Amino acid sequence: MEPQELLEAARSASRSAYAPYSNFHVGAAIQSEDGTVHAGCNVENASYGLSMCAERNAVAAMVSATENRKIKKVAIVSPHAKPCMPCGACRQVLREFGCEEVIVEGDSGVVGYAFEKILPHSFGPESL
Ligand code: THU
Repeated sequence: MEPQELLEAARSASRSAYAPYSNFHVGAAIQSEDGTVHAGCNVENASYGLSMCAERNAVAAMVSATENRKIKKVAIVSPHAKPCMPCGACRQVLREFGCEEVIVEGDSGVVGYAFEKILPHSFGPESL
């Protein structure tokens, strides 16, 4: 799948964001190893700390939908940030499922980051 296609799925998910407190809309789309795409948006809460990021909701969608849970790539889009990089908590959750690449849109186009580059020397399932 082309990076643009995955970014488009993330952009579409960002339109469903429930973000009345931050007004910061985010969409994420995961391409898993079997080629399926699982998307999520951020969902905030009046009890602010319960808000959930788009990436982690995309992971939950993937886990609920399939037993093939190996993440190849994740694309992240926000109309409010270029690029929209995943927060630290989301990096760790994406790491759990072996994410290999993060795709975002910068001012000068699409950028792909090798996961090891944005979460180096990480702790994961094999560490236990
Ligand atoms: N947010 C995400 O959805 N993903 C990130 O990686 C960073 C932040 C959301 C959480 C909150 O709803 C809003 O963006 C502002 O922080």
